[in-house]
Amino acid sequence: MPPSNEAMKGKVCLVTGATSGIGKATATGLAAQGATVVIGCRSREKGEAVKQEIARATGNNSLDLMVADLASIESTKKGAADFLARYPKLNVLVNQAGLFLNQRVVTPDGLETMFAVNHLSYFLLTNLLLPALKAGAPSRVVNGSGGIEAIAKIHFDDLQGEKKFSAMKSIAQSKLGNFLFTYELARRLEGTGVTATIMHPGGVKTELGKGQGGLFGFAMWMMRPLMDTPEKGADTLVWLASSPEMEGVSGYYVKRKPAKSSAQSHDKELAARLWKVSAELCGLNV
Ligand SMILES: NC(=O)c1ccc[n+]([C@@H]2O[C@H](COP(=O)([O-])OP(=O)(O)OC[C@H]3O[C@@H](n4cnc5c(N)ncnc54)[C@H](OP(=O)(O)O)[C@@H]3O)[C@@H](O)[C@H]2O)c1
Repeated sequence: MPPSNEAMKGKVCLVTGATSGIGKATATGLAAQGATVVIGCRSREKGEAVKQEIARATGNNSLDLMVADLASIESTKKGAADFLARYPKLNVLVNQAGLFLNQRVVTPDGLETMFAVNHLSYFLLTNLLLPALKAGAPSRVVNGSGGIEAIAKIHFDDLQGEKKFSAMKSIAQSKLGNFLFTYELARRLEGTGVTATIMHPGGVKTELGKGQGGLFGFAMWMMRPLMDTPEKGADTLVWLASSPEMEGVSGYYVKRKPAKSSAQSHDKELAARLWKVSAELCGLNV
């Protein structure tokens, strides 16, 4: 069975978190349009299984893997370097890997894991892949996030939750980080042909928070019957990544339809401060 259409044929798309839930449905949606899809995964074995599943479902064999544990700065840098060695041009980067943990878990870099994966990996991977995105222009960075940003704060005095950890505080902080990063990126990339957009998928039945318990786990379990399928959750991401009407549109937020994020998510000073701290944490001169 060939891909259902070839609208994205010749385009290289990298999707992180592509081994499960919304990311996997996004990778499948882009493969169904004929794109070359690189599946971002932390386990090569799981990535290979998903690659075969997507090939069977879409008839598209133009699939590849980028293996990186996005909780580790070193592993992310290695994954990006491997990617750049194979793909000098990138047309679409979808940052969708993420997780919820009810406990404070520290990464090999000494960072709190939700901060590291949900926010810092978006910042690091995007900046590392910018040369390929610029070479592939017009190109797009599409960031998955969540609506909880509206009640979040960036706790510059305790970014890693060392003094006082709250799982909800940490996931919310990471989501506000996604918005600040996306809008700052859009401003910095003006005139380069690379756009940055962000979306909130609504409630989607995925593996998110599975086995974590606590208030978040309970809420996710209670809401499951009302939640969308991963395919429905991914359709906005696929649209932002591929639709002709989004060509050149940047700094844009969609929650099923065009939406407005909180006033603080547009705070340029806050965004610049988070950018600086993130660059320092990653050892990037950007
Ligand atoms: N589901 C919702 O209702 C909803 C709503 C709003 C926002 N979101 C956001 O969407 C993101 C999660 O997506 P999902 O709901 O589709 O959950 P999911 O099914 O659990 O998928 C998460 C994906 O992220 C990957 N991932 C996690 N940690 C990683 C790491 N250290 N390195 C590389 N990849 C990693 C996972 O890889 P493995 O397969 O190896 O675990 C998986 O592919 C979260 O940031 C969440 O806050 C979800």
